[in-house]
Amino acid sequence: MSVECVAGLQWGDEGKGKIVDVLSEKFDMVVRFAGGANAGHTVVFEGQKYILHLIPTGILHPDKTCVIANGVAFDPRVFFEEVENLHSQGFETAGRLFVSDRAHVVLPFHRQLDTLREKALAADKIGTTARGIGPCYSDKAARLGVRVGDMLEPNTLRKLLRLSVAEKNFIFSSYSSERIDEDSLLETLASLGEKLRPYVRQTRPLIAEAIAAGRGVLFEGAQGSLLDIDHGTYPYVTSSSTGLNGVGPGTGVSARKIERVTGVIKSYCTRVGDGPFPTEQPGPVGEHLQARGGEFGATTGRPRRCGWLDLVAVHHTASINDTDSIIMTKLDVLSGLEEIKVATSYEIEGKTTEEFPASLELLASAKPKYESFEGWQEDIGGARSVRDLPSAALKYLEAVEKMAGIPLVSVSVGKSREQIISLKE
Ligand code: GDP
Ligand code: IMO
Ligand code: MG
Repeated sequence: MSVECVAGLQWGDEGKGKIVDVLSEKFDMVVRFAGGANAGHTVVFEGQKYILHLIPTGILHPDKTCVIANGVAFDPRVFFEEVENLHSQGFETAGRLFVSDRAHVVLPFHRQLDTLREKALAADKIGTTARGIGPCYSDKAARLGVRVGDMLEPNTLRKLLRLSVAEKNFIFSSYSSERIDEDSLLETLASLGEKLRPYVRQTRPLIAEAIAAGRGVLFEGAQGSLLDIDHGTYPYVTSSSTGLNGVGPGTGVSARKIERVTGVIKSYCTRVGDGPFPTEQPGPVGEHLQARGGEFGATTGRPRRCGWLDLVAVHHTASINDTDSIIMTKLDVLSGLEEIKVATSYEIEGKTTEEFPASLELLASAKPKYESFEGWQEDIGGARSVRDLPSAALKYLEAVEKMAGIPLVSVSVGKSREQIISLKE
């Protein structure tokens, strides 16, 4: 049994949900360690579609233990919505779903503040999911946050809320927004806390003990490393460390315990929200990818911007995550294109570079240099082995693996659990 991490290597929505679902089979525990209900992880099996925002995807396997660790921005309302949906669909959560007492709580005013800030930024907005993620993590860093465990201690909760609400009311008055009713918020949170009590644990020892006992633990990354607060396209990022580097702080378990990192990429690239996207294709190619790939946000329903696979970006993110192997999703979406392109370097200020710049201006001016591949017309959704793939698809996969310099171990050819091909058998 091993300890592994799945990380998104683009701007999120790479298909991590599907890949975690497929990989979950060989693990005992699945852990979310960063992000919050801004994530939307889709899993499809037996004709049924499930979208999880906060609860680890492993919950769809009845024998797995699932943990929402301390690094998650925890929204109790979304949590109970998901729990109720799961129960109505026949999935049990009692005794196998745990929430860290140290996870920070997304409070209703975090959501309001997220929306107000985005409105104020107008054309310069980040394009957030409006789930209160930025304000929740800001309060955590400012030491004005409320943790899940604090919801179980009315006196602590009252004190922490008083500090945070006083500051928020000051901010809200500058936006001419309504004041927060502290008493009613306190009552709501205390009663949600009681409902939450059976799920609340110190999750660090829970995970550490599972690892010490030799059980398999899978860390489910949310978002993608181009949205990482430090290494992404700041400020057009989310507010957490999204991949492998989020595991240590987000769980209290040493990252040294992680034996393997699987990076997930799409066969092309998408981005939902604002910010630079060098390989974006607003024309017919983008339209093909969006229509065939069903590229609409799993959390907000927004259309996702689409473009060619960008290996300059993937080199950057694969390195940040110390990626051992890559799984590519959505190869089927490329069917029907005459020509398929992959960016291998950028031209910036007249010079060719393979480095992914931090500067927004340089990234915005980067002209991708592409390798071009012949497309294929066949629908490949039914392919279950490399022998079923058209030769043009195989050439494309071999070239991507070589250019990425990391083993490409599997490729997904459809939404469903069984639509995946191992490339290394
Ligand atoms: P995540 O956030 O990384 O888990 O990805 P999302 O679930 O937000 O978005 C991925 C979308 O692609 C979902 O609708 C999946 O059902 C779908 N998907 C995953 N793998 C494949 C694939 O190989 N082919 C196709 N056509 N769809 C896929
Ligand atoms: P999964 O786990 C795609 C994007 C938002 C926005 C930026 C900041 O499904 O891959 P936030 O609400 O986090 O403050 O928004 O980050 N974003 C995602 N994009 N997939 C996600 O998660 C995302 N989570 C946040 O669109 O650009
Ligand atoms: Mg998603």
